Amino acid sequence: MNTLIFATNNQHKVDEMRSVLQGSFDILSLKEAGIDIDIPEPHATLEANATEKSRTIFELTNKDCFSEDTGLEVAALNGEPGVKSARYAADDRRFEDNIDKLLFNLQGITNRKARFRTILSLILEGKEYLFEGICPGNIIITRTGSKGFGYDPIFVPDGSEKTFAEMDMPEKNKFSHRQKAMEKLLSFLKK
Ligand code: IMP
Repeated sequence: MNTLIFATNNQHKVDEMRSVLQGSFDILSLKEAGIDIDIPEPHATLEANATEKSRTIFELTNKDCFSEDTGLEVAALNGEPGVKSARYAADDRRFEDNIDKLLFNLQGITNRKARFRTILSLILEGKEYLFEGICPGNIIITRTGSKGFGYDPIFVPDGSEKTFAEMDMPEKNKFSHRQKAMEKLLSFLKK
């Protein structure tokens, strides 16, 4: 197994995965695999959405593939936005609006603890395997930094003073939820 289709249309995630993998194996984004679909994420859990994405691509291609679903879980908001992270403010998935809504909902709240949680769903020869990666941290009060995507400008991972948006990709990878989940997937593949 040298190539896996990565069931995503998010180029940021593809770039991050390539940087994490450093050539351990090749990944093809949906675009690169010639697949033009927007896979729905209708479920109530990250696990169910990840499964839906990988199953959809496996049924379409019959090839080994993986997907991921990530949520930002904020303690003071009972785990919200969680599975709704991409569409927190509205269905058009605008990062800016999502951040505005989160900062608004956290106004005056001193407990800023949050975590990113990633679920990877790998389908290998038709069988599914799930891997989890968690990155704990805090939500700051104002946006800082311009790199990355999504909630990166307001998230400071534990062990750092910088937001994800102030970090280059290799530095973000040292902390990131996706990296942690991918390390588990890689050690599974090596067995
Ligand atoms: P999904 O896994 O594509 O549904 O992503 C959910 C949402 O979580 C994205 O639209 C981003 O807003 C956010 N997100 C996922 N991963 C990250 C990350 O590494 N940094 C910042 N935001 C992220």
